[in-house]
Amino acid sequence: MIFLGLESSCDETAAALVDDQKGILAQRIFSQFDAHRAFGGVVPEIAARHHLEILPNQIQEIFKETKLEIDDIDGIAATAGPGLLGGLIIASLIAKSMALAANKPYIAINHLEAHALTARLIATIQDKADFPFCLLLVSGGHCQIVLVKGVGEYNLLATSLDDAVGEAFDKTAKILGLGYPGGPAVQAMAKQARNGNRFKLPRPMVGKKNLSIGEIASGNFSFSGLKAAVRRQVEAFPTDENGHYFPNDCADMAAAFEDAVVDIMIDRLNFAMDISLKTLNPPIAPLKRLVVAGGVGANLRLRAALLDFCNLRGLAFTAPPAELCADNAAMIAWAGIERFRISPKADSYDFKARPRWPLAELTTPNQAEMI
Ligand code: KG4
Ligand code: ZN
Repeated sequence: MIFLGLESSCDETAAALVDDQKGILAQRIFSQFDAHRAFGGVVPEIAARHHLEILPNQIQEIFKETKLEIDDIDGIAATAGPGLLGGLIIASLIAKSMALAANKPYIAINHLEAHALTARLIATIQDKADFPFCLLLVSGGHCQIVLVKGVGEYNLLATSLDDAVGEAFDKTAKILGLGYPGGPAVQAMAKQARNGNRFKLPRPMVGKKNLSIGEIASGNFSFSGLKAAVRRQVEAFPTDENGHYFPNDCADMAAAFEDAVVDIMIDRLNFAMDISLKTLNPPIAPLKRLVVAGGVGANLRLRAALLDFCNLRGLAFTAPPAELCADNAAMIAWAGIERFRISPKADSYDFKARPRWPLAELTTPNQAEMI
């Protein structure tokens, strides 16, 4: 089964053709960093215009590269949310138009579900990620620990009370004058650190064990206090004659920030495994695997810490390659395949893009309203 996937929810424009047996056949990912850098963050209107210009060419290119025709594919999947509305509309409309013209099923994909299922797309190169597994979803918009029981079946075990962890990376980069996108810049700077212990940063929520989301005891995240502490300390840094901070100071602060993030992640994961999971009703058997997903999942320090965490707890660990952690269309095509092979029906052309669309509101493909 072959699906075309389209992604345009934020500042990555992407198209991919994915085969459920052979994996990714071809993909294009265009990161719009240059277009947004001057503004220090994503400008929704600019992002949407780029999606509109770039996506049709990417689609043409991947069909050409694979020598496939539209008749050779089994469905067209596009991100329908969550994300920036102007962007979501572009991929959704292109997917619906192509599906209508070629008489192919259109599938509306939840971007978070696509991140969650990526571990199963790469199953051909790593060991198989069978359900259920624990997901650490760390992106620019989300920071969550999720029990993934199946396609469309998710239990939220922890979420951020304020900023997403990617946002915290981006803001820290901005404070340090490292530019946009922040995550890779902070990582590169932290690598240059001479003394990662020089700055002491708080670890909000670490050790807290009494919060709840609905009925579920939970170890939530919080990053606003960490960001504020970075800002306070950086404001006291000396500057050169151009008003720039010195690289040594920035590098040591970047390393201290990464350290704090890693400590928070590991503490909250321990909490999820030891307490949150045990409060579920009906109870579930102990989990055997941790999967990381989302752009921050590309962070090398975090990946190394997660691997140690898994080794210590006897868990298998799946970390998609960096380009599949960040936003891409292969994961969208794959989520389409996962849904379609459970229930081979199309979503309605009435399906509206949803800027807010929490994982917990998803339904299994069998329960979903279909035409
Ligand atoms: O999943 P993603 O590509 O887009 C969203 O759906 O949000 O995640 C983007 C986020 C940004 O905040 C970016 O700074 C962060 O992931 N990121 C990283 C790294 N690469 C990307 N954060 C830390 N370390 C990295 N190497
Ligand atoms: Zn994402």
